[in-house]
Amino acid sequence: MSNKKQHWENVYETKDLNQVSWYQTTPKTSLESIKKAELKKDAAIIDIGGGHSFLVDHLVNLGYTNISVLDISEKALKKAQDRLGEQATKVNWVVSDVTSFQPSQKYDLWHDRAAFHFLTEENDIQNYYKVCTSALKSGAQLMISTFGENGPKKCSALPTENYNSEKLNQVFNENFDQVNCFTENHITPNKKNQEFQTCIFQRK
Ligand SMILES: C[S@@+](CC[C@H](N)C(=O)[O-])C[C@H]1O[C@@H](n2cnc3c(N)ncnc32)[C@H](O)[C@@H]1O
Repeated sequence: MSNKKQHWENVYETKDLNQVSWYQTTPKTSLESIKKAELKKDAAIIDIGGGHSFLVDHLVNLGYTNISVLDISEKALKKAQDRLGEQATKVNWVVSDVTSFQPSQKYDLWHDRAAFHFLTEENDIQNYYKVCTSALKSGAQLMISTFGENGPKKCSALPTENYNSEKLNQVFNENFDQVNCFTENHITPNKKNQEFQTCIFQRK
């Protein structure tokens, strides 16, 4: 098992849902952006580094029928599956490091909240870029949220990369058009403020 995977399995083994800094009961920003994308209910949606986020519960309840959740941690996905119960069978669960993910379908929407910013090596960032470029249909949306330039420099004891909209654009602009970018504060369960940068891109 890679060190990275081991790290995340340990996090999900030892921490409860509301003990992790990224916890949100309703992923409001993500849901609003997905609503604006006006996707068909059978659109192929993937949540990258979804962990045990509640986004999947909302998407299932909204009637989306082709939802995938990918995470490096099997335990994270198991927690989400247990919570969803019977409804978990409506979702494609993928245990993989995103940088080596080999998708079996093309997606209309790629959502990533707080996974991409853990990639701090140029090689990993390039592999992520290649995977999402080949995984998305022309016209598909890439919604990515990272720590902002004034955000934390690490999370879960791991270093993170900080982004503003220009820096995110530099990573993706060869194959994606930037559609909308904004920052917001996430308040952690310990009442700390974390600046997030979100950018929405469209696959050329
Ligand atoms: C900070 S959490 C965010 C979870 C979720 N997106 C949310 O907003 O609640 C980061 C997640 O990314 C996953 N992750 C980290 N590195 C990854 C990688 N290289 N490939 C796939 N998942 C990864 C972790 O296991 C963890 O679930």
